[in-house]
Amino acid sequence: MNVKLVLFAFLFGGLILLNDKTNVNALPALQARQDPGSTLGAFKIVGKSGVNAMHAVLVSPRKVVFVDKLENNALKRPDGLSALSSEYDLDTNTAKPLGIYTNTFCSSGSWLGNGTLVEAGGDKGDANYRSGIQTLRLYDPSVGDWVELEGIVPSNRWYPAMVTLPNGNVMILGGSTAATGVNRAEIDNPTYTIFPPPNGGPLTDTAFPFLSSLLPYNLYPMVHVIPNYEGKTQLFIFANQNGIAYDLDTGTTITTYPKIPGGIRSYPLTGTSIIIPLDPTDYYKPTVMICGGNKVYELTSPAEASCGRLELTTPNAAWEMDEFGGQGRVMPDATFLVDGSILFVNGAATGFAGYRKGGGANALWVNENPVFTPFLYDPFAKTYKTLAASTIPRMYHSVSTLIPDGSVLIAGSNPQGSVSLNVKYSTE
Ligand SMILES: *[C@@H]1O[C@H](CO)[C@@H](O)[C@H](O)[C@H]1NC(C)=O
Repeated sequence: MNVKLVLFAFLFGGLILLNDKTNVNALPALQARQDPGSTLGAFKIVGKSGVNAMHAVLVSPRKVVFVDKLENNALKRPDGLSALSSEYDLDTNTAKPLGIYTNTFCSSGSWLGNGTLVEAGGDKGDANYRSGIQTLRLYDPSVGDWVELEGIVPSNRWYPAMVTLPNGNVMILGGSTAATGVNRAEIDNPTYTIFPPPNGGPLTDTAFPFLSSLLPYNLYPMVHVIPNYEGKTQLFIFANQNGIAYDLDTGTTITTYPKIPGGIRSYPLTGTSIIIPLDPTDYYKPTVMICGGNKVYELTSPAEASCGRLELTTPNAAWEMDEFGGQGRVMPDATFLVDGSILFVNGAATGFAGYRKGGGANALWVNENPVFTPFLYDPFAKTYKTLAASTIPRMYHSVSTLIPDGSVLIAGSNPQGSVSLNVKYSTE
């Protein structure tokens, strides 16, 4: 395998150097799965993200933009207030504040086809930061900072999903109209918005009732473009335990897929989804893989230890299940490596996505038992390998993304309402 497997870990507080980089090619035979002594891969802590990393996006070959929510981040803007977003330089390992002035909590993001990043939605503001729940934010890498368009999103979007459409526009889908632990009908937003609006004029919402059928677990739905030969705009849309193939051009459901076995897969019983690399020897047949989550909304509930694979264009396809490498994970992150293998990292072995309840010795951590061990999944052989473990819990509000040297950058974790250090699961 020609992948350099260095897992860069970012720390919000101090900087530690854990381990030097390890080249996979230099290692002896790959370790068996679930080998607790695995030394494949190595974590190296390289710098501070400045803001907690709720989202991370590689915006140019040497720069990563982090987006956080409204909280007392260490990194300050020129006006003295805490930054909600930073730009991290991969060469100097330093972060600088970016100009976001509306609350990004529970927003989402995607790329426009023209190379501008879009973020939409969020939460209400406070005395110093304005509401972000109807804000659309644009980051053009050649400009290097955010432009916020406040109030242009036609309805409140908290925990929407976003996806880049084949024509280069973005779709903003679902969410709720107010912050909530679990969604409910009164605040559900079963609609979508396209940006830029296809016919000019203001942004508009289009009803999408399928989402209501997935209540209460329909927040941050999973959305992927289904590649096809006919130039159609077909989407796989999934939440809770159910998904469909939807033709956006004609507004019709093409396929209703069977329910995924095992637990619930979306917020706050958060799993993850990824389209398996398209394989020319298999006629580029699109296959989705959905992993992790939890069965019930209880803080002692063990995380879901299963993944399902589903061929999206095969008639009457059934879910092909596995045990997710033998480890339950809620809030896993899935990242492609350069050879098409998939890194599963971060997450918790118990509970669900959200903030701790209470403080001090009485704190109840709703995500508990952090999973320190990344797994490397081979989507062709369908096997998992255990990688060297991290020492930093990374649960709610943590991220991972591939960077151009072939490493994976891992950051964040903050299972509490604001920056909090020296607690059991401090802000990273
Ligand atoms: C991309 O399109 C958006 C929306 O029309 C526009 O605001 C942005 O400036 C464009 N970016 C570039 C790099 O042209």
